[in-house]
Amino acid sequence: MNKTDIYSRLQEMKQRREKIACLTAYDAGFARILEEEGTDVVLVGDSLGMVLQGESDTLKVSMEDMVYHTRMVSRGINQTLLVSDMPYNSYNDPEHALRNGKRLLGAGADMVKLEGGGEIIDQINALCSEGVAVCGHLGLQPQSVHKYGGYKVQGRKQEDADRIFDDARALEDAGVMMIVLECIPRLLAARITAAVSIPTIGIGAGPDCDGQILVLYDVIGVSTYVPKMANDFLKNSGNIKNAVRQYVHAVKSGTFPTNDQSFE
Ligand code: KIV
Repeated sequence: MNKTDIYSRLQEMKQRREKIACLTAYDAGFARILEEEGTDVVLVGDSLGMVLQGESDTLKVSMEDMVYHTRMVSRGINQTLLVSDMPYNSYNDPEHALRNGKRLLGAGADMVKLEGGGEIIDQINALCSEGVAVCGHLGLQPQSVHKYGGYKVQGRKQEDADRIFDDARALEDAGVMMIVLECIPRLLAARITAAVSIPTIGIGAGPDCDGQILVLYDVIGVSTYVPKMANDFLKNSGNIKNAVRQYVHAVKSGTFPTNDQSFE
């Protein structure tokens, strides 16, 4: 299947209400396991700054880091959509965004992910008009963690919820092909998912998104702290392949995330 077919397949999955299972990966070995166990999308997340590099946030991740890990992951998969994060300070203006977005495509990414809404619409337009496929990221944006004063649920106040909703519509209008919704109330995620025609992928955004994503290390028992919105699937599955298979099955069957793992 070529990558254009994969975009259409994700779109059709949304229309058929078939859940999209996504995970992060940072190297070829894990990426291969994710593909073998049926993951639909692999994200080379800038979460690598925390889970691989041991930092307390994602802000020190560089373009060189992202290119290096994207290259490794691309060697592990053939059929799975590869999305790569654009790191902090790599898309400060449209020209910068385009140059760095193309570098990630050159390293093997099929799509690049940027955090933000209306304030980065010029960067999104620059990427989309040059044929770079873009994934949005709204709600809790880890690259802005210091602005929020910590990793906190976003969109609880009506004005914030309305802004996130409007941002989702603006991203879709600009040509974004998928949106990650992180740590927002379940009802807001459901409202956005119903309003946009592109797939929404939730993390701490409740069960009504079109798909789910988690940081791989939370799923396979490597993280020392597993957040409320994640599950250690390794605990009851014996090995990493089974843990990934159970995660994919739980997303597809709608048993993950539970209501208790959602925010009001
Ligand atoms: O960096 C990352 O891994 C992410 C996911 C948590 C969505 O952005």
